[in-house]
Amino acid sequence: MQRKPFFYDITLRDGNQSLKKPWSLEEKLLIFDKIVALGIDAIELGFPASSEMDFVACKTLANKADEKTLVSVLARANKNDIDKALDAIKDAKKGRLHTFITLSPFHMEHVLNKKADEVANIALEAVEYANQKIKEMNKNFDIEFSVEHFGDCAENLDFVIETLNKIAKAGATTINLPNTVERYRPMVFVEMVKKVKESLPNYITISVHNHNDLGMATATTIESYFAGANQLECCLNGLGERAGNTDFNQVAVALHNCKVETNIDLSKIYETSLVISQMSKVKIYEKAPLIGPEALAHRSGIHQDGAIKTKEMYFGAYRPIHPDLIGRYDDEKIGFTSQSGKTAIYDIIKALKYPITIQESIRLTPIAKSLAEKKGELTNEEILDLYFSETCNIKGDFELISFKPIEKGVFGLFFNYKNETKEVIGMGNGPLDACLNGLKKLGFKIELSHYKQYSLDGDTKGSGASAMSEIFVSDAKNNLIIARAIDTSTALANVKAVFNALNLSEF
Ligand code: KIV
Ligand code: ZN
Repeated sequence: MQRKPFFYDITLRDGNQSLKKPWSLEEKLLIFDKIVALGIDAIELGFPASSEMDFVACKTLANKADEKTLVSVLARANKNDIDKALDAIKDAKKGRLHTFITLSPFHMEHVLNKKADEVANIALEAVEYANQKIKEMNKNFDIEFSVEHFGDCAENLDFVIETLNKIAKAGATTINLPNTVERYRPMVFVEMVKKVKESLPNYITISVHNHNDLGMATATTIESYFAGANQLECCLNGLGERAGNTDFNQVAVALHNCKVETNIDLSKIYETSLVISQMSKVKIYEKAPLIGPEALAHRSGIHQDGAIKTKEMYFGAYRPIHPDLIGRYDDEKIGFTSQSGKTAIYDIIKALKYPITIQESIRLTPIAKSLAEKKGELTNEEILDLYFSETCNIKGDFELISFKPIEKGVFGLFFNYKNETKEVIGMGNGPLDACLNGLKKLGFKIELSHYKQYSLDGDTKGSGASAMSEIFVSDAKNNLIIARAIDTSTALANVKAVFNALNLSEF
């Protein structure tokens, strides 16, 4: 079994700092509860030195958190930020101070305007200072140190490792390696993570914090875990600066699929994502993996066929998980376009609770496809219209005028055939038999092999109909014909179904 990863949530800090309107205390409280309910191991509450509002929010949440959830706050590598941060969490049951500075050559030179040794000293002093303060507070809080822009440190990695070893000695127990801006290959980053892991004492937890500038943050995070990182910093819905941070949902589900055990309650993912989207005002885009409105839609006929055949299975033919896993019950969407096929028609009509056979869906498919070529995706309404007109109301050479009882077992049948009126008396065991016998007398011979009645409870688009008749017949050329009809009278529904069958038959 794989070791358990430690999920560290940064929605309330990295996610919050990127919002057009950062969250109020009340909003943070609500989101905090959602994060706890997901079973996430640690929560970064905010950046207390950034504003009085964030300080109060961090303090309130730190006091609220129970001993199971590690709560952390961010501080730049200076005394003022560290004091403020520790003040915010001083009453927390399980607290962490998270401090950071860059060690990337580019950033040290162009943004901090400092030499590498100078920056390393600032980092070291900050960790020493925090460690000392925590001791004075008589708390067993731990310290996380982040090498901001670690992903840009390939050229001075030896220096970074040397500095991190000093920082570990100074009291940091978690070393976080951010890909602050995603610029290169995931595996280049992962190799760097591996090297740091191998070069630091065993008790140090290696963490990764990947931004998603090139859309590879999930891959980088997953592979970093397999390379030895144990703490995974993620944001709900992938919120965060620019293109966001690593998306929590994707990482949690990918690890689940890799049989890695976590403390996460995956069934809360979908609902939580909807809440986060609403509260952040950041829409879930259509194609967002797992949670996007289109993430479970199938439009190509091949995909629809596979998806429908494996609907109840965990690994669907064309989906990564069963949607129930993440508490998503809106079902896989089968959308009918010109690319779709018979299984889609079959599945849509069945889902709308009407009877249909595969043979009928085969017959309806080319008609629906040519309609979709002109219109694009058909709505369920449009598919239902097509179903009714092509199975229950088939136009052709035969047109029923009337079918009336004369005496028991005897019926008068009037109809048009190729615009010529025909009249015949039919006798038999009930109306259906009488109708078929009457037609036979005129040379229109069809053999009934199956017959069934469905009750439609008057829901067929205002028709007030209550019965649907389904018949299977074979025509003179031995074709199997399936036809239906609806009427308030079951006898008439049967006779109408026969006339629909006649219009599909060859004579
Ligand atoms: O992206 C980053 O480097 C950060 C650090 C503060 C951890 O958010
Ligand atoms: Zn970040």
